[in-house]
Amino acid sequence: MEELMRNVFLYLSKNQGLNHAAKKWGLRFGASRFVAGMTIPDAIRAVNDLNRKGIVATLDHLGEFVTSREEANESADYCIRTLDAIADAGVKSNLSLKLTQLGLDIDKNLCMRNMRRILDVAQSHDNFVRIDMEDYAHNEVTISIFKELRREYGKHVGLVLQAYLYKTEKDIDDLHEFRPNLRLVKGAYKEPKEVAFPLKTDVDKNFIKIIEKHLLLGNYAAVATHDEAVIQHVKAFTEKHNIPRSQFEFQMLYGIRTGLQEQLAKEGYTMRVYVPYGNDWYGYFMRRLAERPANVAFVIKSMFKN
Ligand code: FDA
Repeated sequence: MEELMRNVFLYLSKNQGLNHAAKKWGLRFGASRFVAGMTIPDAIRAVNDLNRKGIVATLDHLGEFVTSREEANESADYCIRTLDAIADAGVKSNLSLKLTQLGLDIDKNLCMRNMRRILDVAQSHDNFVRIDMEDYAHNEVTISIFKELRREYGKHVGLVLQAYLYKTEKDIDDLHEFRPNLRLVKGAYKEPKEVAFPLKTDVDKNFIKIIEKHLLLGNYAAVATHDEAVIQHVKAFTEKHNIPRSQFEFQMLYGIRTGLQEQLAKEGYTMRVYVPYGNDWYGYFMRRLAERPANVAFVIKSMFKN
């Protein structure tokens, strides 16, 4: 049943008609539990609240799979305005984005131009931009764009790799020469068994494997998970191998396991929360529901609220 619900929500996450309609509805169906608001001031307010608790952030102006040049350029403008707002407000946050939001599916050159516009601004504020990893169809091109931008912008750009893909262990080896700053995650999209581990237990095992490998190579890891067993493992592993806390951070999503977020920050770990905002909330929200069918209860409750 859980697998069926997961598949339904992952299928719905790609529905363009509903995605389009949702932009006009405003945050609905309990989405405000996972999305900080619609505007940049909403987002900065949420980051301020986190910073007060000793938690840093990464802001994400929601958007993905855009199909027009105008939309792609507008998305890039939003990313730039977000970086400027972070600098103006003096809050502790970097930026996360998706390449399909910047026009990757329309024209790779358009996407590169947008990325360079954003990274020029990030560099001028001495900030950092993380490229989220999307579905498997975009994996190789995303990695190749990251390599090119890493050569040009160095420490100002990072990438995400997903433990559910068989290829990720090899990608970690291949990327080592770039000394990459990687966010490591389990993986949120629906992928066939030809490319991704179908069993969650295998994904969990590979997650630990790639985290350990990346850390032992001496590279910076953002361990992004709400899985307490993994977090405990990383704490023990880094202590055992004398890996300094400056070489890794924990990351979680806005609105999920907030108590654990605060506890890790209190223990002195860098704790970064991914704070999404904007009107393109639909796909992101559906993936959060797919991860945890129990979240659907929030949706149902919210539908009966005024
Ligand atoms: P797992 O799914 O095993 O969950 C462990 C526990 O966490 C659950 O038992 C539950 O308690 C809690 N939990 C997990 N998800 C929840 C939810 N939605 N609601 C409530 N509780 C929940 N993926 C991707 O493909 N590309 C990307 O770029 C990113 N980026 C990213 C950034 C950050 C900061 C995070 C934390 C995650 C991502 N992800 C991602 C998503 C990631 O791939 C994965 O789908 C989710 O993090 C859920 O997996 P967990 O590691 O939390 O473990």
